[in-house]
Amino acid sequence: MDKMVNIALPKGRLGEKVYRLFKEAGYECPSIEENNRKLIFENPEKGVRYFWVKPSDVAIYVERGAADIGVAGKDILLEYRPDVYELLDLKMGVCRMAVAAKKGFRDPKGETLRVATKFPNIAAAYYNEKCRDIDIIKLNGSIEIAPILGLSDVIVDIVETGTTLKENDLEPVETIVPISARLIANKAAYKFKNQQITAIRKGMEEQVQ
Ligand code: PRP
Repeated sequence: MDKMVNIALPKGRLGEKVYRLFKEAGYECPSIEENNRKLIFENPEKGVRYFWVKPSDVAIYVERGAADIGVAGKDILLEYRPDVYELLDLKMGVCRMAVAAKKGFRDPKGETLRVATKFPNIAAAYYNEKCRDIDIIKLNGSIEIAPILGLSDVIVDIVETGTTLKENDLEPVETIVPISARLIANKAAYKFKNQQITAIRKGMEEQVQ
C-alpha cells in the first residue's frame, strides 16, 4: 500500500495559505514553492504528496480516495455532502453564505421567490425550513448580476468583504451559515493511515490556535 499521505490542495489564493499551514505544521515540500505549472509534488522524507486541484473538486478526490486528505470550504461540504470526515476547522477562507438582494428589496410574500445561486442544495434547505416556496435558478458565477437584470429576486451566495454586493447596489438580507476552510479525510484512509493523518491534523491544530 502507498505509505505516502496524498493531499489535495485547493488551487489559488486560499491554497497558498493552506500549503503554508501544512509547512508550518512540519510537512514542507520545497518543490511546490518553485514556480512552475506542475500539479503534483512530493517530499518522501516527510511522507507527503501534494496536488493542486480546483477548490470545488477537492471533496471529490477525497471522497473517492484519490486523495487521503484535503482542504475544502464548508460551502462545498454543505452543498455536496461528500461522505468524508471533517477533521479540523482551519479558520481561513472565512466568509459567510448569505441571501442578498437589491437595496430596499421586500419579499413578495405569497409569490414564488426566484433565487439565483451556485449552491442550489444549500438554498433549497434554507428556504424549505422556512416553508418558503422558491424557484431555484442555478448559475455558475457572477451571481450578483441576476437580480440586477431581473432574472431573480434574491441570490444565495458567498459574501466575504461585501465589496461585490456593494459595487453592484445589492445588500445582504440574511446570513445562512458561516463558512471557513476545513481539513477533510477519506474514511478508509483515515483508518489505514491513521497515525500519519492524526499527526498532520495535530500539527495543523497547533498552528491554527
Ligand atoms: C465570490 C462570491 C462573490 C464574491 C464575494 O465569487 O461568489 O461574488 O466572491 O466576495 P466579496 O464579498 O469579498 O466581494 P468568486 O470570486 O468565487 O467568483 P464567481 O463569481 O466566479 O463565483
